[in-house]
Amino acid sequence: MDHTNYKVEPMISAKSIAARCEELAKEISLYFKDTDKLIVVGLLRGSFVFIADLARELNLPCEVDFLETSSYGNGLESSREVRILKDLRGEIEGRDVLVIEDIVDTGHTLHHVKSLLESRKPARLKVCALLDKPARREVEINADWIGFEIPDEFVVGYGIDYAQRNRNLAHIGKVVFD
Ligand code: IMP
Ligand code: MG
Repeated sequence: MDHTNYKVEPMISAKSIAARCEELAKEISLYFKDTDKLIVVGLLRGSFVFIADLARELNLPCEVDFLETSSYGNGLESSREVRILKDLRGEIEGRDVLVIEDIVDTGHTLHHVKSLLESRKPARLKVCALLDKPARREVEINADWIGFEIPDEFVVGYGIDYAQRNRNLAHIGKVVFD
């Protein structure tokens, strides 16, 4: 596939993302207000910018850990087969866990990750996703907190890639092929 002939058109500004992060962090901090054992789990690699911004707005004692699942490779379509490439470093049994995901698309990734983590018996398991594409859902699953609901477009920026590029854009844009 030729990855050179596309443009990135603005969709969500860095300013809107920052404002939404603040709101989400307030809601999440309130929900987990009594916790003394929260672990914030970022799904690599797409959530690395979001988790950095969100975690710094959380008014809670927390640890940070990461989980990496198999990705889209270089394509635009999910493989639907989810594999764990890098597991958590820490135990989560009896702990509060907040999973941070970049996008919930078909839902396969979140479904797989949630069942895996549930099997380890956390006290509470919640999910915050920056973006949600409900029109694409194939598995009935939802995040507990969502930054923005978006239409069925392929997006990049703010940690999210197309063929590993554009993760370092400060805003979120949609990929438009020439
Ligand atoms: P799902 O398993 O289909 O829900 O896919 C979730 C993962 O696919 C996300 O964590 C993203 O890494 C990736 N993904 C889904 N939509 C997009 C997109 O528009 N741009 C880049 N990556 C995407
Ligand atoms: Mg991802």
